[in-house]
Amino acid sequence: MLPVYLDHSATTPVAPEVLEAMLPFFDRAFGNPSAIYAIGQEAREAIERAREQVAHLVNADADDVYFTSGGTESDNWAIKGVARAWRDRKNHLITTPIEHHAVLEACSALREQGWEITFVPVDSTGMVDPDEVRRAITPRTGLITIMHANNEVGTIEPIAEIGAIAREHGIPFHTDAVQTVGKIPVDVQALGVDMLSISAHKLYGPKGVGALVVRRGTPLRPLLDGGGQERGRRGGTYNVPGIVGLGAAAERAMRCGVEEMERVRALRDRLVEGILQAVPDAVLTGHPVNRLPNNAHLAFAGVEGESLVLSLDAVGIYCSAGAACSSGDTEPSHVLVAMGIDPHLIEGSVRFTLGKDNTPEQIEYTIQQVVRAVNKLRSLRVSG
Ligand SMILES: Cc1ncc(COP(=O)(O)O)c(C=O)c1O
Repeated sequence: MLPVYLDHSATTPVAPEVLEAMLPFFDRAFGNPSAIYAIGQEAREAIERAREQVAHLVNADADDVYFTSGGTESDNWAIKGVARAWRDRKNHLITTPIEHHAVLEACSALREQGWEITFVPVDSTGMVDPDEVRRAITPRTGLITIMHANNEVGTIEPIAEIGAIAREHGIPFHTDAVQTVGKIPVDVQALGVDMLSISAHKLYGPKGVGALVVRRGTPLRPLLDGGGQERGRRGGTYNVPGIVGLGAAAERAMRCGVEEMERVRALRDRLVEGILQAVPDAVLTGHPVNRLPNNAHLAFAGVEGESLVLSLDAVGIYCSAGAACSSGDTEPSHVLVAMGIDPHLIEGSVRFTLGKDNTPEQIEYTIQQVVRAVNKLRSLRVSG
């Protein structure tokens, strides 16, 4: 039963069928896809198959899928690439304070180049109000970038409504869908987005590969200048095994996604219910309903989240205090601060994110161990 891995929003293991699809492209079919001889063309065909697989998963045109080195690059490209395309004609961007650092830091870089950034607020569940987005629009607005679901608390944002507003005003709209693709249905047409970021390692694919889906006609300059790869829009020799892995992960998500997530959702609900019933002064953070099916973000008064993570690690349970990318920081989570969560609860917050291999036994064990660890940490605080 051990270890119990409950940090799937940080990363996921590569699924066996994904690994199997990738392996030939490390050695036997190692050719450069840009070469015209047979092993080059075999790699090229594999890349085009992966493009179809990714497009199918998000209901996009295969021609609109561009492979990147992951979510961070996709976010940077969307934001900086649109700014480059506008040159001096637009210089205002709308986003939220709960975005991933890949978005927040790319926005900071634009601010240094004279862009004004408006952060539309979120409520105490982490939800954006589309009307706030509408009110923030000015004639200088050149981009709206709002995440599909938050990586810490799991809240799913009203992207289709925001997409309609963006379209009405003719403003390019980007969404960071790194946490939703493979977990909930994602349809670029229904969402009305012009650009959408994907990362393979969140859906049982390999690390260091992702995609940016770009609707034709979106003003977007390249971020990486180089060879003519990706129709001249993203230079760099193809990461063929990685791209094949992303394609296989997308196909796997098409095949197993809905059923798998319903099973995971039931386990997540049991985990939340079990902990909230047994631990006084514990709360579920994020939206009660509109949240990722695998996310349980809980805050425990009178406990330090990091101490709880370490206590659980000692009994074979892996989870995280705040977002994986920022753990180790001494700063409180920017997401929880923006939601207006009480600082004492922020300090005691822990994220459990479930995945395909978790079992009911693991969840019962986790409930027991959380109860034990929280009681112990609280008693140490009182006696200390
Ligand atoms: C919402 C979100 N965006 C972007 C990223 C960055 O993706 P990558 O790790 O592929 O660079 C992450 C990773 O945690 C994420 O959760």
